[in-house]
Amino acid sequence: MPTRACYVAYKKTHPSIPIGFISAAIQQPVAALPSFAPDDSDAGTEDSPFVSARPRDKTALDLTKARLEILTLGVLPSHQHCGLARRLVRRVVDALRMSCAANAVDGIPIFANVAVSNTEALKFYKRIGLEVSPCIIRNLYRTLSYGSKDAYLVVGVI
Ligand SMILES: CC(C)(COP(=O)(O)OP(=O)(O)OC[C@H]1O[C@@H](n2cnc3c(N)ncnc32)[C@H](O)[C@@H]1OP(=O)(O)O)[C@@H](O)C(=O)NCCC(=O)NCCS
Repeated sequence: MPTRACYVAYKKTHPSIPIGFISAAIQQPVAALPSFAPDDSDAGTEDSPFVSARPRDKTALDLTKARLEILTLGVLPSHQHCGLARRLVRRVVDALRMSCAANAVDGIPIFANVAVSNTEALKFYKRIGLEVSPCIIRNLYRTLSYGSKDAYLVVGVI
């Protein structure tokens, strides 16, 4: 599918052992929906995690425009802090830019959801140039084993 991509990283010496992965998708514009955006006055309430944008808010996500969502990203602990995740993000962004109409995705906003407790991933995303929205998305992750977890939205153009 031209709007989706998934890459697995492995060492040349051990091609059967994955050491990192990423998947991402171009989310197409949705007509007649408001922007997804944080607002301090209403951030993260049960009823309304999605609220209107503040002017010039860098973490606002306009749903009426195409955007690239990082769906999954992981690097084996033994291979972290070597620049692998940064390369995987770059690779998937470039691949999706090439497979879609270049004009439509040039400068496309990139976003991901990150569990509030995942401070390592938040630091990573900030380091590669994305911004963490002050808005908390309540109960985004729900599992039988661990219950529900809140998430942040990270957004930017890289
Ligand atoms: C988040 C994760 C993918 C980062 O992978 P990584 O390969 O170690 O990241 P990179 O080496 O490419 O790091 C890129 C930059 O982010 C920084 N960075 C990465 N992890 C960091 C951390 N925990 N604290 C501070 N900075 C960090 C690196 O120092 C690097 O900065 P630099 O290029 O200026 O030196 C990895 O920690 C991971 O797999 N975590 C578990 C799964 C997960 O949380 N995935 C994200 C779900 S949304």
